[in-house]
Amino acid sequence: MQREMSTLQRVYVTRQIPPEGLKILQESGQVQFELWDSDDVPVPRKELLQKVKGADGLLCVLTEKIDAELLDAAGPNLKVISTMSVGYDHLFLQELKKRGIRVGYTPDVLTDAVAELTVALLLTTSRRLVEATHEAKTGGWGTWRTLWLCGYELANSTVGILGLGRIGVAIAERLAPFKVKKFIYTDVAPRPELAGAINAEYVSLDELAKQSDFLTVCCALTPETREICNESLFSKMKKTSIFINTSRGGVVNQEDLYQALSTGQIAAAGLDVTVPEPLPTNHPLFTLNNCVILPHIASASYTTRNAMSALAANNLLLGLRGQPMIKELKL
Ligand code: DGY
Repeated sequence: MQREMSTLQRVYVTRQIPPEGLKILQESGQVQFELWDSDDVPVPRKELLQKVKGADGLLCVLTEKIDAELLDAAGPNLKVISTMSVGYDHLFLQELKKRGIRVGYTPDVLTDAVAELTVALLLTTSRRLVEATHEAKTGGWGTWRTLWLCGYELANSTVGILGLGRIGVAIAERLAPFKVKKFIYTDVAPRPELAGAINAEYVSLDELAKQSDFLTVCCALTPETREICNESLFSKMKKTSIFINTSRGGVVNQEDLYQALSTGQIAAAGLDVTVPEPLPTNHPLFTLNNCVILPHIASASYTTRNAMSALAANNLLLGLRGQPMIKELKL
């Protein structure tokens, strides 16, 4: 008896994604999928190149480089890449465009979580909370002292946003009740439709550096923004200012940041993202008391990671059906 050929589309999932997305794929009746069944280590490149062979779709996370080598290994069946991330600097867009492969991503659903974490990191850094808990635990807590562990407050400050998008606006909305005096921002061009909501003034990058008491980076990593935060920017900042980055590590020249922090050119930095990730534990930035480093957790709430997983799964299924995705990158 002849066996019926499966009409299910073949998908490879590069990570054990949160349950909501998996459930959508399992119950779709549209795809048969295989996944790298771990969340602790990324799929080894060799394994990935094997597994994508002949796949119609790929659901990936930001640790996988989707480049010409991978697309060649996948072959001509590959129609859709769906990344469970808002950032897409791990995708070689020119290659995808050339091959007519569509791309889904996960903006919006993580905006609240990222904005919350950015505010938490900003306050942790400016009010020196990591140093403070360390002192309390290790015997450094003597008498109450007048200037001990003093930091910088948001009230009456100027907050600068480098790259104004949904996340920058959400951060400003959360910071406004702290009585911030003024919001300023820079971007490739003014974005009045977004800036209006938070009453933010458009300024040049130089002015952003000069005026900001808190400078928070929210831009995507592109060739134009790579290492945009460098010696030239840090040298224009106030000695009392706080630098926060929850976008991508690649927007910062880390040697220049180390210099700025260790020489007192700026007061402190809070980083959720670095190059590389994980940042080696012997990296010089870890030696500084005025640098708070988190392991890329801005979107890490259960609700948000499940929403990202569901959106990535739905984008994939829609793309494979040839329909518009919920969130599709224009290539
Ligand atoms: C993203 O989605 O790009 C974040 O960096 C991780 O959630």
